[in-house]
Amino acid sequence: MAAFESNTMLRAQFPTATVREALKHSIEKKAYADILDPQITVLVVKDVSVKAFMEHEADQRQPKQAVDALGDADHAPRIVSFAKWTHPVGIEDEYEELAWIWPEGTDMKILEDWTKQTQETAKKVLGSEPAYKLSFVGTDPVYTRRGAASLLVQWGIAQCQQHGKPGYLESTLEAVRLYEKHGFEAAARIELDIESDEKLGEREQYAEIGFIYRP
Ligand SMILES: CC(C)(COP(=O)(O)OP(=O)(O)OC[C@H]1O[C@@H](n2cnc3c(N)ncnc32)[C@H](O)[C@@H]1OP(=O)(O)O)[C@@H](O)C(=O)NCCC(=O)NCCS
Repeated sequence: MAAFESNTMLRAQFPTATVREALKHSIEKKAYADILDPQITVLVVKDVSVKAFMEHEADQRQPKQAVDALGDADHAPRIVSFAKWTHPVGIEDEYEELAWIWPEGTDMKILEDWTKQTQETAKKVLGSEPAYKLSFVGTDPVYTRRGAASLLVQWGIAQCQQHGKPGYLESTLEAVRLYEKHGFEAAARIELDIESDEKLGEREQYAEIGFIYRP
């Protein structure tokens, strides 16, 4: 949530502080299910230094939690960055990923419209070719530009190379350079008109880029 909090698509799909708080539980449940799913690899980069842990807590301005956590600081490495890679799925595999359970207050219209756009784009770019798909990557803002996301992207690239399969992802505009740097090529632009500020009635054309990697 720290990484994606300012993302306008996330704020449009989960438009209130209450729904965004409830979303954390949905993410937690889905993350546990994904970790157990043999078709999915969830990767994390951790900072195991106690000093970094304490600095991070201070930075998040959560003094009470920082104090509570200090007791087991040695055992509490901070998650710096995470990624979710889905392994190639062929039509014959009959695999279906466990569905998300969205919190009450989710704007289902925007969520479904966006999901439809991304699915159609992936189909246009890949056809029915099975690929390694990067669904999420996020780095805690305290730790950005230190190569954490690169490690997680490189893991997928190594899988693509080892198994001779393409890699695919939808990139936020912010992350475009990251994927270009690792050899992904822009294949399509995905856009949706969304309300960026409900109070001011402002709208924006939210965009992401479909990227493909071919080993
Ligand atoms: C995009 C994001 C994942 C990058 O994570 P990171 O750990 O900082 O990435 P890295 O340190 O591995 O960056 C590697 C390279 O990517 C590029 N890059 C990364 N973030 C960038 C940014 N905000 N602006 C421009 N280039 C960027 C740079 O070329 C960088 O190399 P450099 O620091 O030597 O110039 C992180 O900023 C983030 O979580 N953003 C919010 C969520 C999001 O948009 N996720 C991507 C979903 S597709």
